[in-house]
Amino acid sequence: MTKILILNGPNLNLLGRREPGVYGSRGFEDYLADLRNRYAGQVELTYFQSNHEGDLVDKLHEAGFGAVDGVVLNAGAYTHTSVALHDAIRAVEVPVVEVHISNVHQREPFRHHSLLSAACRGVICGFGLDSYRLGIEALTGNAED
Ligand code: DQA
Repeated sequence: MTKILILNGPNLNLLGRREPGVYGSRGFEDYLADLRNRYAGQVELTYFQSNHEGDLVDKLHEAGFGAVDGVVLNAGAYTHTSVALHDAIRAVEVPVVEVHISNVHQREPFRHHSLLSAACRGVICGFGLDSYRLGIEALTGNAED
């Protein structure tokens, strides 16, 4: 069974309540239950969310040396600021797919640049919560080089 960690950064604990016009009205735990059902018997999904940059770095270290097969990472605003997360993604051995719910390129200019993309296996953005499923598909071998 493939093991994948979904790692969410700051403010994503507020999904469903936070700017529903941008991020939708569904809480993440509710969506995660659907994802787990969809991949039952195929993919074991673990989930961690933190509002703290260092916690996200720690989790990447914990997961990134064989504990899981890949990471789907939505680093939230740290995407645009965090050298520490860039370095952590480069440091670990497992592939990391960067995902975003919104299409960051249609939004404010400060969201157009990611410090993480260059370190990640690939980037998916703009498909709402379905961005996470697409990230899982990429990690489970359905995306070809
Ligand atoms: C986000 C986009 C980021 O710019 C923002 O800071 C977030 C969420 C997204 O999923 O669309 O917190 O990563």
